[in-house]
Parts: sequence; C-alpha cells; structure tokens
Amino acid sequence: MAGAGISTPSGIPDFRSPGSGLYDNLQQYNLPYAEAIFEINYFHHNPKPFFALAKELYPGNYQPNLSHYFIRLLHDKGQLLRMYTQNIDGLERMAGIPPKMLVEAHGTFATATCTMCRKEYNGEELRPDIMEGTVPKCPTCKGVIKPDIVFFGEELPPHFFRYLTDFPVADLLIIMGTSLEVEPFASLAGAVRGSVSRLLINRDLVGPFAWGLQRHNDIAELGDVVSGVKKLADALGWMQELEDLMARTTDRALKKNEE
Ligand code: APR
Repeated sequence: MAGAGISTPSGIPDFRSPGSGLYDNLQQYNLPYAEAIFEINYFHHNPKPFFALAKELYPGNYQPNLSHYFIRLLHDKGQLLRMYTQNIDGLERMAGIPPKMLVEAHGTFATATCTMCRKEYNGEELRPDIMEGTVPKCPTCKGVIKPDIVFFGEELPPHFFRYLTDFPVADLLIIMGTSLEVEPFASLAGAVRGSVSRLLINRDLVGPFAWGLQRHNDIAELGDVVSGVKKLADALGWMQELEDLMARTTDRALKKNEE
C-alpha cells in the first residue's frame, strides 16, 4: 500500500507534510479550502485550479526512485501479489511494474473522460492543452474533459475491489509513504489476516500504528522512505540487484527520450 510519500524523493510534493505538502501551497488558487482542488463539485464550478495543478504534476517530468524500484524487484522475484497505490504520478508504471500488478486506487492521468458525453480519451491527448494552461474541451460535445483521477465525491475504480480477494491471501503487508487519512483506501491496512505482519515504512506512525492499535506482529521502520527501503533490501541481500535494476531501467528511459 503506497501514498505520496514514496514520490517525494522523486521531487513530487506530498499532500499533508507541514509546509512542503501540496495542501499548504495552494493559496494562489483562492480555493475555499485545499481539498476543493480535487472535489468533483468544485471542478464543475471551476476546473482551472485543477488543470493548473495538473500542469505541475503531469507525468513525464519525474523519475521513479528506489522505493518504486524495490516494488518492481519484488515483482521480478515473484514476491509481489499486488501494489495498491493512491498516487497519480504514474511512477509505478515507469519503474516497470506491469499494470496488471497495480491497483491505482485514486485513478490515473493515463486516460481521461469527457464530463458531458463520457467519451474516453488517451491522457496524452490532453497534454498540449494542459501545458498551455487551457481547459481541455471535447471536440464532440464541447464538454470539459477530465483526467480519470478519482476526485473526492467520485467512486473508486472497480478494480479497487480486487482487495476483496488479494488481502485475505496476502502473507505480508508493506505500507509506504502514506498518512492513511483517506478512506476507503486507508481501511485496507486492517484487511489482512491477524497472523500477517504489517511493515510500515514512513516518516511517522500513521493509521492503526498511531492509534495504539498495533498488532503484536506489526513493525514500523520510521524515517525517510528510501533509507527504510535500503535497510530492507540490505537485510534481503538485494541491494546490488536493486541498484543494477534502477540503473538499467533509468538508462533505458533516457535512451528512449533521446530517440
Ligand atoms: N520518507 C518517508 N515518509 C514520507 C516521505 C519520505 N521521503 N515523504 C512524505 N512522507 C510521509 C508523510 O510524513 C506522510 O505520513 O508520507 C505521508 C504522506 O501523506 P499524504 O501527504 O497525506 O499523502 P497520501 O497519504 O498519499 O494522501 C492520500 O489524499 O488528497 C488525497 O487523493 C489524495 O491520494 C491522496 C490521498
């Protein structure tokens, strides 16, 4: 289970870290309150703040970091059952984690839908408008096209409910870089069997780890997520493999960009 805290080492702000978090830096948009930027009713009232933010966050300017590559290595070693992520930055796919191994619970920029006629678009079709700061409009009906990010007030994508079969069979849960503040995603932390260890890699104790509801087999590795991941990779003897994987995949991405 991952949140924005695994992408701050890549240079993307998280939402709630005091001072640096996104919700502390939205004054320029004159929002009634910070979360409005991701609320569907506010979006229908005024989509401009969201699209201005989308320009900053749009996939393509950031690279995955060691945290993403660790999950990719778990997959390469046949140890990953599924990665449940709240993130919309697409760094999991960029690190080479196959989409079928991902549940992007809060949606993705990879696809978009017209808010009027529901026509579906590829996220790349919106890039020119978003980079120019214009609101993307549907050529068919002139409605506003919205990236398939899950806004507050919207349903989570149907594949989120894969947790009903994944979590009961998981034999380890790793929770990384999330405040566990947003439901229903946060409740997944309690969906593994009591006998299953839960490893929190995060700057601070969150969710059941903070409320004193820790289970006897819970483990919290507090501090920067990359150092926590390095400690785990070292303990597994995977550090060299992890660094080679990261170097190989980053080079390939750079070469692709140069082509
Ligand atoms: N190392 C370790 N922990 C970190 C790091 C880091 N480099 N950077 C941030 N964190 C921790 C923060 O301390 C915090 O506990 O990661 C957590 C990030 O929490 P949030 O900013 O609330 O992000 P997230 O949990 O992903 O938010 C959930 O809120 O607004 C919605 O839809 C949005 O998906 C998002 C959801």
